[in-house]
Formats: sequence, structure tokens, C-alpha cells
Amino acid sequence: MARNKRIQAIVEALQGYHTVLDIGTDHGFVLKDALDLNYIQKGIASDLREKPLQKAKELLKNYPVTFYQSDGFLSIDVPFDAAVIAGMGSYTVIDILKNYPELKEDLIMMPHDNIDVLRRYLTENNFMIDYEKIIYDRHFYTLFKIKRGKMMLSEKEIHTGFHSVIDSNYISYLNYVIKHFEHLVQVSKNDKKRYLENILTYYKEVLHDIHDGVTIY
Ligand SMILES: C[S@@+](CC[C@H](N)C(=O)[O-])C[C@H]1O[C@@H](n2cnc3c(N)ncnc32)[C@H](O)[C@@H]1O
Repeated sequence: MARNKRIQAIVEALQGYHTVLDIGTDHGFVLKDALDLNYIQKGIASDLREKPLQKAKELLKNYPVTFYQSDGFLSIDVPFDAAVIAGMGSYTVIDILKNYPELKEDLIMMPHDNIDVLRRYLTENNFMIDYEKIIYDRHFYTLFKIKRGKMMLSEKEIHTGFHSVIDSNYISYLNYVIKHFEHLVQVSKNDKKRYLENILTYYKEVLHDIHDGVTIY
């Protein structure tokens, strides 16, 4: 059984892959749970820093996992069919992707901030969002499954999401973000206020369309 909803969601998305590279593995929970559940056959645990990698080595002793101290993909010299990048800010994720432009494998990502910045990077750099799913685990998190390929996101999709799983978590998330932007609009002025009003409108339109049954997945 996975340990919390955030980790559980990442693990669920790994079903069917053979060898999964976990970048920034830290404790190693994702690979342990995916292997325990027989969702994957092998793991590659990697982290920028030695201490987290040591924790993963202890947790994953006797598991079919190899370990790398690596900045993103840079020192990984074995094949994998999917990579996880979770628990980092979007700017760090983008740096990791920029440093490995030859990436062809699928990505499971769960960045913890600036989701719009990441979507913009993906659409401008030949990545395709297969789906997004909102997870609630004390905070809202966006899980992405990404493939290599072309997509063209509108400004509205860059903010509100693309191929999002429409469920009660997504609707709670929309309501939460709408409240957040309503507050920001109230305390802002001039150009900033107009920019925030635009984003607020995007979220309200998406929620409205869901309630009207326009958006069906
Ligand atoms: C907050 S932990 C996230 C752990 C786990 N992935 C999760 O989602 O629960 C972030 C980890 O990413 C590692 N990290 C940060 N930048 C990295 C990079 N460029 N390459 C590899 N690992 C990195 C950190 O050392 C840390 O162990």
C-alpha cells in the first residue's frame, strides 16, 4: 500500500512501464511502492545529493534498483522507459529537461509550483501532455503524464490545464484557485490587475463549462 495520496498518484501512473528512472528520488518511496505492487520491473534511483541517495539505498536494499548521483539525466547511462520528476519547482524541472534535449521516454511529473511556466515550456519544446490529474494531499498537486510530440496550448490552457481529468478534485481545485485570484485581483492595480482578471476569467470559464456539461472527457 502506498504511503500518501501524492506518492500513491505518482506510483499509479507508472503501471505498465518496465524500468523507471526516479530523478530526485530522495527517500526512494516511489520506486519501492511501484516495485512492491509489481507495477514496474526495475528502478533507477538518482539524486543530485549524496545524503538522499544514501537514504534510498537503505530503503531499496535487495530491490532491483541501480543508484546514481546525478544532476537530472546527466550521469544516467542505462536505458529506462519512463522517468519521474516530482517534488521540485518548475524552474528546476525545466533546467533538468533543458540539459537533456535528446529525451524520448515518457515523463511522469509533479512539480510543486509555477505550473503555468512549466506548461509553457512543454508546449514550446515538443512535449505533449497526455493527461493531467489534480491530487489533494493537504495541498493541491498537479500530476502530469508527458510524451514527446507536438501540442499547441492556448493561453487559457497554459493556466488552467490541458487534458485534465475532470473529477471532484479538479473542481475543488478550480474553486480554490478562483478564490485565490479573486483576492489577488482585489489587492492589485492597473496592468497587474488586468492580467490577473484575465486569468481569473479563464478559470471561471472552465468551471462554468464543466457545470454546463460542455467539457467532457
Ligand atoms: C523534495 S525532494 C522530492 C522527493 C521525491 N521525488 C518526492 O516527490 O517525494 C527533492 C529531491 O530532488 C533532489 N534534486 C534537486 N535538484 C535535482 C537535480 N537537478 N537532479 C537530481 N535531483 C535533484 C533533491 O536533492 C531532493 O532529494
